[in-house]
Amino acid sequence: MVLQTEFAQIRDNTLYIDDVNAMDLVKKYGTPLYVMSEGHIRHQMNELKTKFLDKYENVLPLFASKSFSCLEIYRLANEYGIGIDCVSAGEISIALKAGFDPHKIYFHGNNKLPSEIEYAISHDVDHFVIDNFYEIELVEEIASRLDKTIYATVRVVPEIKAGGHGFIQTGHKDTKFGFSARHGIYLEAISKILESTHIEFEGIHCHIGSQVFDLYAYISAMKRFVGFAYEIYDQLGVMVTKINAGGGYGIAYTKKDEPLDFEVITTEIMKTIKEGYDKRGWDMPMVLVEPGRYVVGNAGITLYTIGAIKEIPDVRTYVSIDGGMTDNIRTCLYDADYEGVIVNKAEQPKDTKVTVAGKICESGDIVVKEVMVAKPEPGDIFAQFSTGAYHYSMASNYNQLPKPAVVFTYQGKSKLVIRRQTFDDLTYYDTNEDYE
Ligand SMILES: Cc1ncc(COP(=O)(O)O)c(C=O)c1O
Repeated sequence: MVLQTEFAQIRDNTLYIDDVNAMDLVKKYGTPLYVMSEGHIRHQMNELKTKFLDKYENVLPLFASKSFSCLEIYRLANEYGIGIDCVSAGEISIALKAGFDPHKIYFHGNNKLPSEIEYAISHDVDHFVIDNFYEIELVEEIASRLDKTIYATVRVVPEIKAGGHGFIQTGHKDTKFGFSARHGIYLEAISKILESTHIEFEGIHCHIGSQVFDLYAYISAMKRFVGFAYEIYDQLGVMVTKINAGGGYGIAYTKKDEPLDFEVITTEIMKTIKEGYDKRGWDMPMVLVEPGRYVVGNAGITLYTIGAIKEIPDVRTYVSIDGGMTDNIRTCLYDADYEGVIVNKAEQPKDTKVTVAGKICESGDIVVKEVMVAKPEPGDIFAQFSTGAYHYSMASNYNQLPKPAVVFTYQGKSKLVIRRQTFDDLTYYDTNEDYE
């Protein structure tokens, strides 16, 4: 078992997160509980700042906020001077409510709704990552009506296969995201933008996938992007002054995962672009990166209470907990692997192999496929590691389970960041209307 963040430690037969005893958190807030180490988040955001933002001229790291979106995370991102990537008007609305500068929001998405475009533009969000021809028409129409200028980076498919699972590969040829480079489709899109009156073309965007461990995939993507920049200049006569290299930096969920170093990835990205631009005697473009999981993934630990334990002879032992696929969909969606520990037996011998199952009425409702733990008993507290990204943000109310609370820990203290849902919340949107 490996704790994937130095901000969590096992000592005194228990688990401490930012020096807060996990058992105290259970007593105070109940389970299931998402615990986020603010110490870890700050550490990662500081890496984005010191190893990218402050290190180079004309760069901006963005936090891909789909990985974990709430008021507090946008406040923290703001504090470190980094921008954010949002994929819906909902995410934008939360960021704005947190006081985030709209000019540092990059609006992504493969089907931005007219109402979302209108919402974003009327709230001064002016950076769009343009995904398709229909969006160009909509943005031009809405921006001209509102008399605003939108700065566009065009998402182009680099045709590179990378990413931990088919569902999180986004840069290969058969993808719903972005413009294909085949038959000059992306050039046609840029021409259309150049003809528009309220969209200003700035550059190109690529995101090859998520949970990527292959440095060469980033280098190849950037080589291809330099090639696109040449092609755009040669065929359309415009310079690419901005390259967004995307995110996807893999993190360790188990000891088998070997993440790349953030600074190594960004150094290679910068080097590849510089070599390409130098060949033409061009100035460096502005460069953006947009990791999500890297910032928050290892910050999260979910605490569950163990209930029923079922031993199927010669098959496996199911340990059921008080949450499930509603608070962690990643195991069934991506076949993801995790590690964890029984908190109140943290230093006891891990001699029992178990499958941690949820309480949802689905056979696929598995939270951890296989993990060695101390002999489990009902009432024990199971901690699942590395649950900070795409857990809370993907949570649902299936089987009408209230969503768990989110608690932040920092320097020996804890605070409630998102309260636990109540049964009243479950009927909050129901009406008792009659037919008219
Ligand atoms: C366009 C884009 N950028 C960035 C990210 C962030 O990926 P990750 O959290 O793996 O860094 C995603 C994830 O889906 C994405 O689609």
